[in-house]
Amino acid sequence: MCGIVGYFGQKNPKDVIVAGLKRLEYRGYDSAGVAILDGPLGDQHIKVVRAQGKLAELSKKLETESFSGRLGIGHTRWATHGVPSERNAHPHTVDGLSLVHNGIIENYQDIKKELASEGATFNSDTDSELVAHLLSRAVRETKDLFKAVENVLPLLRGAYAIVAMWEKQPDVLVAFKNGPPLVIGLGEKEVIVASDVQAIISYTNKVVYIDDHEIALVKGTDLKVFTTAGHLVKKETQTINWSADQVEKAGFKHFMLKEIHEQPRAVASAMAPHINLETKSVELKDLGLTTEQLKKIDRIFIVACGTSYYAAVAGKYVIEKLAHIPVETDIASEFRYRGPVIPPNTLVVTISQSGETADTLAALRLAKKLGALTLSICNVRASSIDREANGRIYMNSGPEIGVASTKAFVSTLAVLNLFGMFLGSLRGRLSAQDQSAAVENMLALPAQMESVLAYDKFFGEAAMKLKDYRGVLFMGRGVSYPIALEGALKLKELAYMHAEGYAAGEMKHGPLALIDDRMLILMVCPSDEHYEKSLSNLEEARARGGKIMSIGTGDNAALKAVSDDYLSLPDASWMVNPILAALPVQLLAYHVAEALGHDVDQPRNLAKSVTVE
Ligand code: M6R
Repeated sequence: MCGIVGYFGQKNPKDVIVAGLKRLEYRGYDSAGVAILDGPLGDQHIKVVRAQGKLAELSKKLETESFSGRLGIGHTRWATHGVPSERNAHPHTVDGLSLVHNGIIENYQDIKKELASEGATFNSDTDSELVAHLLSRAVRETKDLFKAVENVLPLLRGAYAIVAMWEKQPDVLVAFKNGPPLVIGLGEKEVIVASDVQAIISYTNKVVYIDDHEIALVKGTDLKVFTTAGHLVKKETQTINWSADQVEKAGFKHFMLKEIHEQPRAVASAMAPHINLETKSVELKDLGLTTEQLKKIDRIFIVACGTSYYAAVAGKYVIEKLAHIPVETDIASEFRYRGPVIPPNTLVVTISQSGETADTLAALRLAKKLGALTLSICNVRASSIDREANGRIYMNSGPEIGVASTKAFVSTLAVLNLFGMFLGSLRGRLSAQDQSAAVENMLALPAQMESVLAYDKFFGEAAMKLKDYRGVLFMGRGVSYPIALEGALKLKELAYMHAEGYAAGEMKHGPLALIDDRMLILMVCPSDEHYEKSLSNLEEARARGGKIMSIGTGDNAALKAVSDDYLSLPDASWMVNPILAALPVQLLAYHVAEALGHDVDQPRNLAKSVTVE
């Protein structure tokens, strides 16, 4: 996801910003840029340099540039609104006001209409430029950047982390956020604002984390943080003391936690090769299967093990709904021995993070022998399953070190959503308009994931309650059901606690007998077509003295009323909900395991790659 660096201080802002952006490269990006003050004191102007592609392209352009100012901002962009290009790269500048943005402004179309009616002209296709217009309009009136931000904030809806500068205030940066992270490093004679502490750590280890709905005012080397209502907030300065091991883990205590926090980027990277940003459509490039082959398919099997199998179950819901093709899911160790019946025109999809899981590989070989067309979804390129399948889509998550799979799971869910959309459109089941709306929803997803992950501390507190139960029943309906399965698996493998994943409609058929005050029900219950029914299930459990933790959409009073604990997710479409819901279930399991003192990265008796039966 986009990276942000802002700087005020004695050093050359160009050097600090580019070095900081380099540290944020892991987030993924397709263009980059800087805006730095230049000119004699009293008459300084913003000079912007941007480039499509890797940071090396930007650095090349910057080689011949010098800046006399002490203030600047920089950005690495991962395209959401508008294709990757120099004109869409940040910073966006309007009349001496420049900003960088990570996230999505949901009401950008309304804002654009309003600005256009006032005669504004636009130099990019981004939602971010519109915020620069709003701030530029406000600062003309307020003559003060901070006040301009206060005026503009009520006009913005969505997830954002923004850092802005105005050339008339050459020592001021204003940063504000709702969702994506922002952290401010306080050095000797310098202040660095960034989307990640990695960009700061080589200059100072004193940092202040900005919370949602706060506005940070950097004036010279002084930092003040206010609420959106204008009240000064007393912020704690934290000292980051990373060991060499932590540097490898990017400051996280475990690889698993790092990988959980990498998920917005993992999902963005999984989707990037397959989305045409101009047409807002899915183009499965380098699939290795022809459109003709895919058009002929009238049955799909998805085969995998463990977490990859639960992704397969989610894929069944999505593909059947979008493409109207019957989908069967199979645990690979069952598929390979049950004598599966593979009719002609069958596609067998095998999912495997490692690409080496023995049962999944055997299932793939069997499917080929039985005449099926095969497609692999793997993370590790050139692994056995990747090589042997007829076609392939990559998870593109980057290396997953923690034995418990996290980022590979959400990347697979994203890829399966795109695959479902692609098949739906190919078979005339998904209109171009519906596809474009679904693509918009998927593009908004990484920023929504960041805003969920920002509540990690809150999930950690909820996890402390979970560990005292005898067991946990994870429940869900529809595409939330595989998230219940995955939540239970995560808790088993990390916390060594007994947990079961159930389709909520099954409660009356047995699990209800388990309910007492030592068994927790964890219901994945976003606001979708199944919501009312899941709520009724919770009421039945409640009436029998059950303890309930629920995961729902927004501030849901009815769910809260029936639950002992409530975890909220942003409002999203049915296809996006399971990816968002995966985050709290992973974090709950992580924090319980951590509190119990377990080896989170290498749970007992488990291996990352299961290459034997
Ligand atoms: O590499 P694969 O995706 O084929 O691995 C499948 C399972 O072994 C794996 O998902 C396992 O269940 C993990 N420990 C889950 O966290």
